[in-house]
Amino acid sequence: MRHLIDPTDLSMQELDEVINLALDIIDNREKYSEACKGKKLATLFYEPSTRTRLSFTAAMLELGGTVLGFSDAKSSSVAKGETCADTTKVISCFADIIAMRHFEEGAALVAAQNATVPIINAGDGSHSHPTQTLTDLLTIKREIGRFDNLTIGFCGDLRFGRTVHSLIKAMSRYEGVKVVLIAPDQLRLPGYMKHEVCEKNNVPYIEVSSMEEVMGDLDVLYMTRVQKERFLDEDEFDRLKDSFILDSSKLKNARPEMRILHPLPRVNEITVDVDADPRAAYFRQVENGKFVRMALIMKLLEWAKDDSKTIDLIPEDAIRNEYVCHNKRCISNMENVDSLFRPATDKPGKFRCVYCESKAKL
Ligand code: NCD
Repeated sequence: MRHLIDPTDLSMQELDEVINLALDIIDNREKYSEACKGKKLATLFYEPSTRTRLSFTAAMLELGGTVLGFSDAKSSSVAKGETCADTTKVISCFADIIAMRHFEEGAALVAAQNATVPIINAGDGSHSHPTQTLTDLLTIKREIGRFDNLTIGFCGDLRFGRTVHSLIKAMSRYEGVKVVLIAPDQLRLPGYMKHEVCEKNNVPYIEVSSMEEVMGDLDVLYMTRVQKERFLDEDEFDRLKDSFILDSSKLKNARPEMRILHPLPRVNEITVDVDADPRAAYFRQVENGKFVRMALIMKLLEWAKDDSKTIDLIPEDAIRNEYVCHNKRCISNMENVDSLFRPATDKPGKFRCVYCESKAKL
């Protein structure tokens, strides 16, 4: 079976196939209006969502398929204590493909281990959000025309922002990409992202404390909101929530061809006067999300029938039940699943949790 749990689960060639199919869908909408006739998508959303869930729904409807699911865990058997593993086994009997969003890190991976249909990770805690990444990539393709030799500034909550983690992972596979990290100290990019993703793939990164100082160097400015729901301490959120606000005056030195992306929802990190700037691509980005999800659903349904497309979700060298994950939001601490750790590639002799990538502690 084939799933999309992490953005790098797609090979570069498969990624091109998905992006190119999305571009063809944009040009030939009619041609695809029955592409998923008779197929059912289940959207299992344990965490709030507007865009992602509705764009999956719109995508499947535009392909001629149907959609079932829940948008609030309280209205599902989760409220009775059912595990994500059991729910996935059950829904596999009703649907041909499942999109799941969950507040626990690694939940989509647990779902994939229990499903008999493809699982799409629509966001797992602060860990990953690969379909937002596909949306971002299609937007970059349409707005800028290339993935190589781009300088991308990531601004805001780089610690909890799963869209940031997934896009950096995806961009680290292209030549000549440089990353500029703009965040308050408390919301900096996690260590595993810097060491295992950027350094391992020779992606130069710098950390700066203001967007003005780098604005003129950027091809893409990726803005994010401070992720209120991930803070354990509300006072800390209050201190950080207004850290970086993009307004028109800060764009003075930005290049005319730079593009501003944001996964949305926006809170106050981009003032509305920026919306009219031709460089503001975030509302165009939303529509790209629907097209790329249409392409992904079609491809995963096609690959589900092809055994040669199955990939290992658990690294071969993973060790079972030896360490306990110290991340309270990791699925391995919430459900009765094997603990799984893989060797850390940045620190010899150290291990990282396969579900959430936290460092192992004995
Ligand atoms: C993002 C998410 O859910 O991580 N939203 C989305 O999917 N478009 C970003 C966010 O919530 O800030």
